[in-house]
Amino acid sequence: MKAKLSTIVLTLFLSLTIFSQAASAGEVEVLHWWTSGGEARSVAVLKEQLEKEGHTWKDFAVAGGGGDTAMTVLRSRAVSGNPPTAAQVKGPQIQQWGDEGVLTNLDAVAQAGKWDQLLPAVVADVMKYEGHYVAVPVNVHRINWMWVNPEVFRKAGAKIPTTWDQFNEAARKIKKAGFIPVAFGGQNWQEATVFESIVAGVGGTDFYRQTMIDANPKQLNSPTMVRCFEVFRNIKQYTDKNAPGRDWNLATAMVIKGEAAMQFMGDWAKGEFTAAGKSPGVDYVAVPVPETSGQYLFNIDSFIMFEVSDKENKKAQMAMARLILEPKFQEVFNVNKGSIPVRTGMPRAAFDQVALQSINDFIASAGTGDLVPSMAHEMAVFPAVRGAIFDVVTNFYNSNMSAENGAKSLASQVSAAM
Ligand code: GAL
Repeated sequence: MKAKLSTIVLTLFLSLTIFSQAASAGEVEVLHWWTSGGEARSVAVLKEQLEKEGHTWKDFAVAGGGGDTAMTVLRSRAVSGNPPTAAQVKGPQIQQWGDEGVLTNLDAVAQAGKWDQLLPAVVADVMKYEGHYVAVPVNVHRINWMWVNPEVFRKAGAKIPTTWDQFNEAARKIKKAGFIPVAFGGQNWQEATVFESIVAGVGGTDFYRQTMIDANPKQLNSPTMVRCFEVFRNIKQYTDKNAPGRDWNLATAMVIKGEAAMQFMGDWAKGEFTAAGKSPGVDYVAVPVPETSGQYLFNIDSFIMFEVSDKENKKAQMAMARLILEPKFQEVFNVNKGSIPVRTGMPRAAFDQVALQSINDFIASAGTGDLVPSMAHEMAVFPAVRGAIFDVVTNFYNSNMSAENGAKSLASQVSAAM
């Protein structure tokens, strides 16, 4: 009887503890597109930190670099009245979700965490809808990077280029030596990522602003834009026949393995080098895309949060918002992801030379007016305009369209989308 009684007490005790844990813990369902090796390692940090606080993470990963597939899936979930707790949404799109009245107010967490003091004002503004926080920024990525395998350059007797003329010279040598000069992923967002860096470098920062941000038809159809299309087309002969449709991280792997010499890609590519145990300055080199040194095309990841009715899930949601801007998360996440912290005043000790260069270039470019939002990564224009640019860029790259017609078509399709 005694034994029985103690079993009953123990069972009661256990079920009470389990119950009380369940009662204080909620669930977050998080939509994101971080599925590559480096990305998955990064997002796992957030999951871990939330679980440490007793909450549950329901992963809603939708593969597809650049996030266009994820955005389509998010739309359909939201339309059916069943959005996730949080979703990776960026730039001007945050305002569009705000217009729909489905986002939750994060002001209380923001105030407690002093977000207004910790975030650059330009970043904080993007995260607010009608003056209230509805999104949390995670990081700052730089787009205009070139990832280099120095060993391949060495074997080919080529020099790392800083201009497009030098690029030609180097690429020719690399091809002759039997390597693939450029690791390329033929998907529209990757093509647009390369193209916008060319526009910034060849045209200069003002031209980038006029075209990729202001979408000025006169500049879109100009001799400078024709030149940008020519430089873009010229790259194609230095890519391999398997480029069409290739995922960006597979292209990065070609550089890591020494099959290809270079890749033009944002610094999430660094996450792949890091995940593969490679060191910057030794196994790989990161330099700005030719002719873009001093320029910084930025891309800020962020999560919007939807209205949630369950009280415990709401707590979990607010915990997620709070954790994202805490120093520990900012450090570990960004080291893995290849980005730099969006929280200002962070210690730099954990960051490698590429991240430090990114931090310094970010600050310097803000001072010279060369810090500009990425069109390809949804920082600069509304989705309809971005879609029009993507269509023209990808049609041009995958056809024999002349550079003149590329520029003409860019101006007309963008105007029609505005
Ligand atoms: C970007 C995103 C990055 C990275 C990349 C490739 O749009 O901002 O965080 O994930 O897509 O998926």
